[in-house]
Amino acid sequence: MSSDAAKVVALFGPPGSGKGTQAERIVEEFGYTHLSPGNMLREEIRQGTDLGREAESIMKAGKLVPDSVINPMVAGRIRQELAAGRRVLLDGYPRTIPQAEYMETALREIGSEVSVVFRLEIAIEALLSRLLGRLNCPKCGAIYHEQSKPPAAAGICDACGTELVKRSDDNEASVRQRMDAYRQQTEPILDRFAAQGKVALVEADRSPEAVYADICRRLRGAA
Ligand code: AP5
Repeated sequence: MSSDAAKVVALFGPPGSGKGTQAERIVEEFGYTHLSPGNMLREEIRQGTDLGREAESIMKAGKLVPDSVINPMVAGRIRQELAAGRRVLLDGYPRTIPQAEYMETALREIGSEVSVVFRLEIAIEALLSRLLGRLNCPKCGAIYHEQSKPPAAAGICDACGTELVKRSDDNEASVRQRMDAYRQQTEPILDRFAAQGKVALVEADRSPEAVYADICRRLRGAA
């Protein structure tokens, strides 16, 4: 696969496996548009929209927002970005079989498809401490960790100076629910992409740099 061909690329992995962290790097180096329904929904909540109000309690509980809300929101953006000649990095979509079907149909209609799905593999038990220590920048989206990636000034984003926050779903009960949702509703989609020869396995229990190096190799078509 050459990087020119990789118009739609997806990151899959359980909560805390490093999808957002890797997305930051991929976007910076390869110029993809980062489409994360989680980020879109958090922005809706921040702006106090009807959609945000509908999603807030569901997300806080660690459950999936209904497909009927997610599908038009994300598939519309994918089509818009591709029509403008941009490449798309999906982070957290699709997450259910109906979402995968909806996305495939929407892409097929415009002669496109997902090129590669990176599956970030890590034992779920290892992820709790990553999530409980995470800090996020609500303005630019930068991701930190209290121990493994602290900002230079405590509680302040290095990139834009905004006060960092903890996500309301980064508590033990929500994290366990999100892990269950991943196992039950999202992992089965991977069989579908594997049957199409599109899944690239990436060992995610390593440094962010080592994980990124594997993704890069594949994106550059060198693997
Ligand atoms: P979303 O925002 O997508 O959350 P998630 O899938 O639970 O994933 P996270 O963002 O928690 O983790 P990540 O893998 O991005 O890890 P990160 O890089 O931040 O979704 C949130 C909610 O929105 C869902 O629960 C649902 O309600 C709703 N939603 C979203 N999409 C939906 C959909 N399609 N359908 C229905 N509902 C949807 O890293 C985590 C921490 O680990 C950080 O502190 C980081 O610094 C650290 N870290 C990262 N990589 C490494 C590494 N290699 N080594 C050590 N530490 C690392």
